Amino acid sequence: MKLDFIPESTVAAGLGALMKGAGKITRFLPIPQPTLLVGPGSSARLGQAVAGFGHRKLLIVTDGIIHKLGLLKHLTDALTAGGAAYAVFDEITPDAPIPLIERGIAAYREHDCDAIVAVGGGSSIDASKAMAVSIANPRKPLRALAGYFKGLNTPVPIYAVPTTAGTGSEVTVAAVMADHERQSKLVIVDTRIVPKMAALDPALMTGLPPAVTAATGIDALTHAVESFIGQWATPYTENMSLSAVAMIFENLRTCYREGHRLEAREKMALASTYAGIAFTRANVGYVHAIAHQFGGRYHTPHGLANAMVLPHVLRFSAPAITGRLATLAVRAGLGADGEGEDVLAEKFMAGVEALNRDLGIPVHLEALREQDIPALARAACKEAHTGYPVPRYMTISQCEALIRKLLPPTVKPAAGKPAARKAAARKAAARKVAARKVVAPKDAAKAATKAATKTRSAARTPPR
Ligand SMILES: NC(=O)c1ccc[n+]([C@@H]2O[C@H](COP(=O)([O-])OP(=O)(O)OC[C@H]3O[C@@H](n4cnc5c(N)ncnc54)[C@H](O)[C@@H]3O)[C@@H](O)[C@H]2O)c1
Ligand SMILES: [Fe+2]
Repeated sequence: MKLDFIPESTVAAGLGALMKGAGKITRFLPIPQPTLLVGPGSSARLGQAVAGFGHRKLLIVTDGIIHKLGLLKHLTDALTAGGAAYAVFDEITPDAPIPLIERGIAAYREHDCDAIVAVGGGSSIDASKAMAVSIANPRKPLRALAGYFKGLNTPVPIYAVPTTAGTGSEVTVAAVMADHERQSKLVIVDTRIVPKMAALDPALMTGLPPAVTAATGIDALTHAVESFIGQWATPYTENMSLSAVAMIFENLRTCYREGHRLEAREKMALASTYAGIAFTRANVGYVHAIAHQFGGRYHTPHGLANAMVLPHVLRFSAPAITGRLATLAVRAGLGADGEGEDVLAEKFMAGVEALNRDLGIPVHLEALREQDIPALARAACKEAHTGYPVPRYMTISQCEALIRKLLPPTVKPAAGKPAARKAAARKAAARKVAARKVVAPKDAAKAATKAATKTRSAARTPPR
């Protein structure tokens, strides 16, 4: 299927295009939805079902941490019991780059597979989607497949087991891949890359480190909120957004503090999927537009960037969406009908700020530099204004002012005693190290392993 009516000018070439593309396409085209299997053990049930589909051989695409944590076991046991052959490609890293996706494609061919089971966070699922399009369209290099419906042939089938909650990638039409050569992210948008079946198995999420739980959980909240306050919301997406918001406010703190709580993990997994269903149809807004710039320039993890920006964008947008914020407050359990729109709207904004505090989300972006702000604001506004259905228009200088609120407090050189000066210098150095820790993507996998190990022992002593 080739859809030539989509003009070349709208072809995606950057991360912003992900949501733009999703929105533009999905307002006109029906989006398939995967069969959802939900609950502890559902990854095994997905294995059972897929084993019955008669595939020649499946390629399980995942990352090394997931593999080492043993999260594939129930799925692979079920595949084996059902007589299905499979191979494992476990090299995915966060924001999978093109050469890595190409290695995955080589593994698929080498093992003569005919379908993919993606197990992992958004990075593994997106890499699988990109592989699926590329495998079916071997004449086009991966870069040329970025954009809308660039593959003539139908992608190979994908089944998904998300292990974060999350991106909602198991139900969205988009796949992000990193193009390190051009220092950008490319996006493939195609309704045919939505997985055929997805298992939301909370038992796989109990070892998710608290920091990843928090950041990915607020990513899901941002999807739900931005799709609800934007102008493309429909009754269907509104329902999905509101259900997601309710479940996130009820369960995200529990998942963060007591990661082993299966029921809360399951609700978060569902919330992430509902939010994905909503935003792949109704799009996102300024929060994502600004967060993408932080991700691009400082490699700030996507969910963390969203979490820091969300409260500020809500306060900016409030005059145009008081009623919407009031509805969100009631569904989030932060107020009751009849309290008055202004009061409820304020309760929702304060509720988001309190949630961030409880999840240890910083209020400043340590890597942010004053001199970068004009360019960041310009790029964010460009991204938002060329495709997002934002509820209240923001000028570039308003955007600059908003971003400026995230600047880390300046460390004034302590006048007077040398000891105080030394202490200030130590503080500044520590800040630099912390900023590097947040921004170094290569270290993310290592940090996640460490944190996952910590979380498992912390399941007995819940983190404060
Ligand atoms: N396709 C879409 O619609 C869409 C939407 C939003 C974001 N994204 C993309 O998704 C990617 C981010 O995905 P993500 O936030 O899910 O993170 P991720 O997939 O990059 O994973 C983050 C880290 O968590 C670890 N991890 C994952 N599950 C775990 C578990 N159960 N236990 C322990 N550790 C676990 C991973 O090993 C990794 O180190 C980005 O590339 C982003 O651009 C895609
Ligand atoms: Fe997001």
